[in-house]
Amino acid sequence: MTASRTTDQVAGEAAQRRHLFDVDALTVNGIAQILDEAERMTEPMGAPLRGKTVINFFAEASTRTRVSFQIAAGRLGAQVVNIAADGSSLEKGESLVDTVRTLQAVGAHALVIRHAEPGAPYLAARHFRGPVINAGDGRHAHPTQALLDLLTMRRLFGTLRGLIVAIVGDVTHSRVARSTALGLLLCGAQVRLCAPPTLLPHPGWIAALPPSGEGGTVLQTTFMRDALDGAQVVMTLRMQAERQQNGLLPNLKEYVRMYGITTARLAELAPDAVVMHPGPVNEGVEIAPELMTGRVSLISQQVENGVLVRMAVLKLLLGETGE
Ligand code: NCD
Repeated sequence: MTASRTTDQVAGEAAQRRHLFDVDALTVNGIAQILDEAERMTEPMGAPLRGKTVINFFAEASTRTRVSFQIAAGRLGAQVVNIAADGSSLEKGESLVDTVRTLQAVGAHALVIRHAEPGAPYLAARHFRGPVINAGDGRHAHPTQALLDLLTMRRLFGTLRGLIVAIVGDVTHSRVARSTALGLLLCGAQVRLCAPPTLLPHPGWIAALPPSGEGGTVLQTTFMRDALDGAQVVMTLRMQAERQQNGLLPNLKEYVRMYGITTARLAELAPDAVVMHPGPVNEGVEIAPELMTGRVSLISQQVENGVLVRMAVLKLLLGETGE
């Protein structure tokens, strides 16, 4: 009994390692390995994925993630095929499982998937032999965004241990907030989630987070003053209107006044902080336009680092030992 459970567990762990569903399957060393590999992606390396086909299957809107996976796979020498829900047989009623089986049959080696349903990548992986990489599933997870956020912060601060990061905005609907907060926690950062009460996750989510061996913490507050006090990074989030029910905010103007990140608010509450945003941005809502570029903004570094992280993930999952 014990022996067979152990075998199953080992098999389960191996299966998890072959895919990237979320940061929750990674250890602090696993995260460091991916970030270190990403750092090496600026060096010349030939075409380690020549002969491999990567399918970019995006059943939900995307610019940055889709394009950067495409560029990343291309730089590694892989062939890339892009599929969107519009124009694919999903429009004709084909199920996700049938689509994935078809992609398997045409000879794809890796599947990058974005889907509005949480859990879609896990389902896809049951019908696909190669690695499956989650590029965002509903409001659940977005692991490569988390990894690029971690890389961007590690590059600037040298370490994530003890870093004070405020994540402000529509936390409850944001897969980025969930995955990035989890990654930061594992790596020992002090995370503060800040939003109006209707846009904060259920406290049970925080209670269920794994303990951080690195001393990381996650707390939530509705007060910007508490979230930003001493913050070294302020990450703002887009209002995820497509995932919200009505009535979560009394008034957008009031939200902007209380939670929008502006130069004046930063100067008052977190004068030394840098600003991040996963994009796409609603200028003038969660962030003032002048903060999107310039000295305090890391937004374009996030996009640049996204290509490096996705190269690293593809190479680690599909290189030498991969499919
Ligand atoms: C995010 C996403 O799609 O989850 N964008 C991204 O991937 N860079 C965030 C968002 O949509 O607001």
